[in-house]
This record gives sequence, C-alpha cells and structure tokens, in this order.
Amino acid sequence: MTASAEVIERVRALRKALHYHSYRYYVLDDPEISDATYDALFNQLKALEAEYPELITSDSPTQRVGGVAKTTFRRVRHPRPMLSLGNVFSVGELRAWRERLWKMLPPGSQVSYVAEPKIDGLTVVLHYENGHFALGATRGDGEVGEEISANLRTMHQLPLRIPVDAAMGAPPARLVVRGEAYVSVADFEAFNAAQIAKGERTYANPRNFAAGSLRQLDPRISAQRPLRLWVYQVVLQEGGKLVTSQWEALAYLQQLGFPTNPANKLFPDEKFDQLEHYCVAWGAERKRLPYEVDGLVIKVNDLVQQERLGAVAKDPRWAIAYKYPAEEAVTKLLDIEVSVGRTGVLTPKAILEPVQVGGVIVRNATLHNADYIAEKDIRVGDTVVVRRAGEVIPQVVRPLPELRTGSEKVWQMPEHCPVCGSPVLRPPGEVAYYCVNISCPAQLIRSVEHFASRGAMDIRGVGGRQAKLFVEKGLLHDVADIFYLQRDVLLAMEGYQEKRVDNLLSAIEAAKNRPLYRLFTALQMKFVGPTTAQLLVAHYPSVDALRQAKQEELEAIPGIGPKVASSIVSWFQEKHNLHLLHKLARAGVRMSEPHKASPPAEQVVAGMTFVLTGTLPHLTRNDAKALIVKNGGKVTNRVSAKTTYIVVGASPGSKASQAAQFGVPALDETGLLALLGESLPPT
Ligand code: IVH
Repeated sequence: MTASAEVIERVRALRKALHYHSYRYYVLDDPEISDATYDALFNQLKALEAEYPELITSDSPTQRVGGVAKTTFRRVRHPRPMLSLGNVFSVGELRAWRERLWKMLPPGSQVSYVAEPKIDGLTVVLHYENGHFALGATRGDGEVGEEISANLRTMHQLPLRIPVDAAMGAPPARLVVRGEAYVSVADFEAFNAAQIAKGERTYANPRNFAAGSLRQLDPRISAQRPLRLWVYQVVLQEGGKLVTSQWEALAYLQQLGFPTNPANKLFPDEKFDQLEHYCVAWGAERKRLPYEVDGLVIKVNDLVQQERLGAVAKDPRWAIAYKYPAEEAVTKLLDIEVSVGRTGVLTPKAILEPVQVGGVIVRNATLHNADYIAEKDIRVGDTVVVRRAGEVIPQVVRPLPELRTGSEKVWQMPEHCPVCGSPVLRPPGEVAYYCVNISCPAQLIRSVEHFASRGAMDIRGVGGRQAKLFVEKGLLHDVADIFYLQRDVLLAMEGYQEKRVDNLLSAIEAAKNRPLYRLFTALQMKFVGPTTAQLLVAHYPSVDALRQAKQEELEAIPGIGPKVASSIVSWFQEKHNLHLLHKLARAGVRMSEPHKASPPAEQVVAGMTFVLTGTLPHLTRNDAKALIVKNGGKVTNRVSAKTTYIVVGASPGSKASQAAQFGVPALDETGLLALLGESLPPT
C-alpha cells in the first residue's frame, strides 16, 4: 500500500514534534510534555513506519536506536583539517600567547576572546545537508576520520534535524560542525560498577569509556551507552545565517538546536585580566561539573583575524588550551606496605612505579583499608589508575584487570603487626585493623603524648616533641617508663638544666595521684574517652575490678554498648597491657579510687541531672563530671525543665540564663562539693 498524502503529512508532523520535544528534554533539560505523551507520539510514528516502510528516513527519531552491526568503519576525509591545540599551563604563558597574536595582527586591531571549557571527551565531526544529519565521523588523524554516523545517531543530544525549532527559519544548505562527545563521571562510575558486578571489562576513565562506546561496530551497543555532546565549532557553512565571530557561531549553533556549553564566555581584550582570573578560577570550578574538563580553550573571537593568524603545523595560532595538570595517571602497583598509624590502625600503602600526577611525581598512594582493596580487587602487580585531585593525598582508584598477565597477587592484611609482631585485631563492625599492643614503637610516641596530655594524666613538660625525643633517645619503651625517668639521665640531655628536670620530675610525681578515670582515659582503650572512663569508675572503682569485668556485665551498664565492652575486654587480654599496668602500679600510680567516707551504696545524687557551664576555680570539667557520676548523678549538655542543678563557673555561657528561665537552681564549685560530700581531689 502506498502512503496517502495525509499519512505522509502525519509522519512529517510527528517527526517534527518528536525532534522538538526530544531537544527540550535532552538539550534544554526543560521538557514541555510528559514522558507518556512523548512515548505515545513516538509509538504512533513507529506504527506508521511499520505500515509504510518506504517512509523511513535515516534521520527519523525512530532510527536512533536501530542499525545493523558493521565489520569495519568507512574512512571519511574531513572538509578541512581538524586541528589540535597548543597548551599553556600558566597565566604567564597565556600572556605570551597574547603577545604573539598582537605582533601578527595589524596595529590597532580590536581583539576579543572566547573561553570555553575543554571537555575531556572525543572529537566528533557532524555533517548536515539541508538540515538533515547526513554523516558523522571521528577526528582520526585530523585529515581522515572514521564514519560512525549510526553510533552518533543514537545520542539523544545530537539533533537529527536543524533547526530543531522550525520557527528558526531555513537551514543552511550545508553545515559541518565540530563537537565533543563525552560521558559524565557518574554514568562512567555506574557503568564500571555494573561491569564489575557482571565480571566484565571496565574502562580506565570517562574519556576511554566515551571512545570505546563511540567506536562500537554494533550501534545497538552505542545506543545503550550514556553518551552526551557539546558542540563548539563551525567547520564549514554554506547558506544560513552569516556569522563573523566564534561568539556568533556559538549562538547560531545553539539556535539550530545543538548543545553548547553554558560556561562559554566572551572577554574583550581590555578585560584580559578577567580572562586570566577565569582560567585560574576554573581550576577549582570545573570540579563541580558532572563531567571531566581538563582545561579551557581560549579562542580569538573574530573569524577574519583567525584566518589571518592561521596555524603552525597542526596547532592554530588563534586558539590555545589553558590546561590543568592531569589528575589521573596509570602506573604499576609494585607492592602494598602496611604502616601503623598513631592510633594503632594498620593502613595499607601502595608502592608505585613513580609517575607524574597533578604536576608532581607520585611514588606512594593510599589504598584506604583492606575492604577497599578487596572490593576493587586490587592486586599486587596490577596496572592501576592513580588520582591526585588538588591537595588531597594520591589514591589508587582502580585496577585495570584487562592488563593482567596472571602473575598478579591477591593481597591480605597481615595477621601480626609489621612493627612489633603483636596480633592484629579487627573490632566487629569496623573497617580498620588495629595492632593491639599499646607499646608498639610506631604508636609509642603518640601514646606517650596522649598519656601525658591534659585530658589524661596531665604531665606538664611531656608533649609531642618531648615524647618523640624520649622515645628516640631510648628512654621510653612504654608509657609506664615515664615514671621511671632518672634525674641524672635527664640532666645529661641537651636543654635539660636542673630547674627543668626538677619541674618535670615533680609533674611526673603529681601524676601518680590522678583520679582513676584519668588513668582509664590515658590507657587508650579503644572507644574509651573521659566520659566513658567516668562511667567505668562509677562501677569499677579500681583497675583490678575493671580487669575482671565480663563482657555481659560491661554491656549491662547504661551508656556502654557491645563495641566498647568488647574493646575493654580485649585490652585486658593483651599481655603487653597487663605488664604495663603492673609497671604503673609498681611506680606508685594510683590504681583505685580512694575510699570515700560514705559507702558507694549511698549515691547521694542518684537520679539528678546536672549541667555544667563556665570554668570552675579548681575542678576541670571532667573532674566535676567524674565526681557527679561517681555519686550517681548524670551530666548533660542541654538545660531543660528536667535539669536538677546548673553548676556555674567563671564566664558562663547561655546555659546559665536558660537555667534561670526554667527555674533551675544554681551551684558553684563549693556548693557542688558540699552536695556531693566530696573534697577537692589532690592534683
Ligand atoms: S577547539 C582548532 N574547543 O580538545 C580548534 N577543542 O587538545 C581546535 N576540545 O581535539 C579545537 N573542548 O577534542 C576546541 N571547546 C573546545 C573543546 C575542544 C574540547 C578538545 C578537542 C581537541 C582537543 C585539543
């Protein structure tokens, strides 16, 4: 059956509408009709084309997905050479480029520049004849490319007809445009994740993914890839609107229905400083984009001036790429080393074949943790993608399993600490592995610093610098050794004159008598900070009592969960730690709370809630808290009608006035001590 004039007209109208609405949806991101309406129109067209196959044209909206697989790509000669670009990496070089231009242009020329994001994708050359998409090609060697029309047609952002909006007037008889096909970072990552799940090949980066997707012999595969497009150059034009500058060309391309980048910007020469600023600012700005941009392209705006400036070899003089150093590179993972961090966490570190990333040579990179290595299936010997974004430490992003030779080795976290040989423990529910030995040399410096810090044993004269010095001089092998430091040994050290040594020794002496919760805090049991330590003291008033506590007993304490309980129990199971406690006790460090006048059964402030504000004259906040908790009270941060007392020190915060509003009675330090029946603890 041949189509009637009515059918032909209907098909024409449906195509026109579908072209327009797909443009609203994919290019403008601003649809005018619902998806369901679009689908209904699409299905009508499909039905008519099924009935009248002779009406099918290659630029029909129904033809985006179809097509048959090829065995090779046809070669096509570009109508003009597809030039590449020279690079600059600094504002200084950009100025030098401008100087060179000025020398070549007639004196008094008016120059302006267009800055465009340099999309890290793949050049595509698109041919339109009388408004129909006729042919598309890759860049190839710049002279001859490969014809990939069927694959390009699958890209929803590529107009099959121009102008998309017929109201824009007649199309040019011939138009060849250049653009960049790309995929977004999110689409790339989703694709790779799905491939990993299926056990299939992944791509190294969004650019390779775009290239691989465009160069598929079967367009049905390209159709499933999330390819997108930005168009940036009129290569050849016959008929249509006359454009005399790049800026006009971009506007014209946009009018015709091509996607042009909204970040494109025009700068007159007087505002070259702003252009420079734009180049620099874009280094950070581009990271907020959903796709990868490796620089800005700066182009002389005037097309006559462009012509006059010409090209040297393959690089035009009238355009330059302001590039940011590549943030990703590919190299070999030579080994995985484990380092012991300040808290005893074992961190796997990548030893790499040195490679230039983000402007520096990278030899090591982080691998985060053992789970990360397992999830990404990173193996020793793999070729890997390394990324260094800005100031962040370089990281191994992913392996390239397709480059494996079979000699790569699956890696596992060692079972013993590489520094001290103690067992390595992974607390339930955590990603990190820890060395259980508090005296592990790698941790020792940090442990000493923590042990002596204000919140813990508060030993003035032992800070980070001294901790390092004492450990390096071999004076400390564990934190308990602080209490065994000898006067004559200290005096022999540089900078330790008599006065300083005396001060240090008396600070150490004073530390032997700290409240028990401070010792619990100082011992670095995982998850045990001052608040938990105070809770523990209220239930276990000596180190020995806590050592005998069972997991279930600990868990029964409100405020102590299974994670904390298990960490305490395993801490006491470690031989090194028991030895340490023994040494501390032998040195005379207080290992239990002094017995109070009133027996612990009489919890004088049980059920009461306290809020602390301001600085008390003698008690630190933690000491005050410890006393309240010991006597059965609770300390919270927020004042409410339920607050029993507000304890007010010097320079109180807004909590004091809030308490007044609720009618909460206030106590000072003396009042608090009287209420608790306590006296000031020794310092
Ligand atoms: S202009 C003579 N403009 O960058 C004009 N290129 O390193 C040369 N690119 O092969 C190209 N965005 O694939 C131009 N806005 C843009 C671009 C751009 C990305 C790519 C293009 C080119 C490469 C040059």
